[in-house]
Amino acid sequence: MPGALQERRWPLDALDFPEFSQAIERSVRDEGLVGYELLRKKAANHGGKLTGTYLRITIGTNLGNSPGIPYVLEIWPSGHQSPIHDHGDSFAVIKVLHGQINAYYFDSLQSPGPNQQGPPATLKKDDVTWISNDSYQVHQLRNESDQLCCTIQCYQYGQDDTQHYEGFRFSEDGKPVSACAKPFLPDSDMAFGEFKKAIKKEWYAYQLERMR
Ligand SMILES: [Fe+2]
Repeated sequence: MPGALQERRWPLDALDFPEFSQAIERSVRDEGLVGYELLRKKAANHGGKLTGTYLRITIGTNLGNSPGIPYVLEIWPSGHQSPIHDHGDSFAVIKVLHGQINAYYFDSLQSPGPNQQGPPATLKKDDVTWISNDSYQVHQLRNESDQLCCTIQCYQYGQDDTQHYEGFRFSEDGKPVSACAKPFLPDSDMAFGEFKKAIKKEWYAYQLERMR
C-alpha cells in the first residue's frame, strides 16, 4: 500500500468557520439540506443508489494538465463509497482532512480483473497518500466509519503523458470494463467558495433557530 505520511496543514475547520465539518455532516445527513440534495441529484444521474455517491467540490479552475479541475474536496458521508475506478493514468496526492476512509486497491479494470490486492488501507485525518500512472491506479474509496470523511485530492498527468485521457474508467458492480464503456468525466458538484458559503448560511440559520 502507498505509505501514509503525517502532515498538518490545510485545516478544513479554519478560523473563519470552525464548525465547517460539523455543518457538512449535518447537511449531507438531513433531507432538504444542501449536501443531501446534491447527493440525491447525483444518485439520480448515476444509477440511483445514494450510498454509491460522494460529492466533488472543486477548487479553482481546470489548468489543462489533469482530468478535470486538479484540486477537489471530496465529501464522503458515512456508508458511502466510490465505484472501483482509475484516474486516466494521472498522478494524484490525497489527504484526509476529516474522519477516516478505507482505500481498496485492484490489479486492473480489464478482465480477469478487477481483483483486490491485499487488505484495504485505513487513512485517517492528516494522512497523505498517492497514486501514480502505474501504481495503485485502480482503487475504490469506502467510508466504512460512522462519521463523515472529507479528503482533498490533487491530480496531474505525468511529464511524458501525451494522451491526457480525460476520463476515469470505472467498474460497474465489480465487473471488468468493456472496451466500449463510457468513462466518468470528472465534473464539479459545486465550486468550493459557493459550497462553503451555502453550508455556512445553512449552519448559522440552524444555530439561530436553536436559540429561539
Ligand atoms: Fe479515486
